[in-house]
Amino acid sequence: MSNSYNINQIKNLNDALIYIKTELKSIYNNHEIQSFTNIIFQHLINFSKIDIIIKTDTELTNHTKIQIIKIVEQLKKHKPIQYIIGETEFYELKFRISPEVLIPRPETEELVKWIIDDTVTKQNIDILDIGTGSGCIAIALAKNILNSRINAVDKYEGALAIAKKNAQLNNANISFINDDILSYNKTKYSNKFDIIVSNPPYVRELEKKVMDKNVVDYEPHTALFVADNNALIFYDAIADFAIDNLKTNGKLYFEINEYLAKNLTDLLNNKGFENIIVKKDINDKNRMVRAEFD
Ligand SMILES: C[S@@+](CC[C@H](N)C(=O)[O-])C[C@H]1O[C@@H](n2cnc3c(N)ncnc32)[C@H](O)[C@@H]1O
Repeated sequence: MSNSYNINQIKNLNDALIYIKTELKSIYNNHEIQSFTNIIFQHLINFSKIDIIIKTDTELTNHTKIQIIKIVEQLKKHKPIQYIIGETEFYELKFRISPEVLIPRPETEELVKWIIDDTVTKQNIDILDIGTGSGCIAIALAKNILNSRINAVDKYEGALAIAKKNAQLNNANISFINDDILSYNKTKYSNKFDIIVSNPPYVRELEKKVMDKNVVDYEPHTALFVADNNALIFYDAIADFAIDNLKTNGKLYFEINEYLAKNLTDLLNNKGFENIIVKKDINDKNRMVRAEFD
């Protein structure tokens, strides 16, 4: 099948499934195609995974068929499905996504879970999320740590606009701050925090060549990359910020580059942080750090 595919060749869901598979099988594996079809039909006709299996004779409207063909054309150009449909899920919440923000990752859900597990007995706490992007960390924490006051900062207005929409969508009360954490403006932070969390840019330019095309070509480079010779620039600045802005016994949480765990723990040690813990993600990669300062 080609670009000149005639939508009349698709009558029902089964035809659409065959069309999607035929068009994408030379680019994606079966598992990826299955995951795309689940997302596409959930998004377009609100079908669950089970509906897709048992209701294959469902007739599709012309509008739906045209949407499917448009989505498939973009998938063929390696555009991430989340940007194509403009949404994704994170911590069982729905998030709007645009090219101004990174697509939230499963490993970041693990970081959020760690923070939530650590705070089950605490209430009324102040939290700051640095480099909020879509707002996924701040919003997931707001929905799961009751009575918390959450602030979220990003350098880019485009990202903050999406994060604000997501806070509204999820009915989460977040105070957003526009600031550059590398030269932060003290007057924008009126109180101290029990928890500071950040998933800052941490991919070195040298790692670009082994990254997937869909990430390098479509995700915002301002959210991803740091210079090879200053890979911990954000961690250094955020650790200094935390020394000045954490409450006594406050905790700093980071998502980290799997290759830089030792460099980062050395950096935190040298600055006087204590109880530094590195945690692996589900793929057994060093992915998170927690540190305390008093
Ligand atoms: C790796 S993304 C993380 C986004 C989101 N928190 C997540 O976990 O999916 C890093 C974020 O840091 C923001 N950022 C980059 N440079 C910054 C700076 N100098 N000050 C504040 N935020 C910055 C980017 O706009 C981006 O949203």
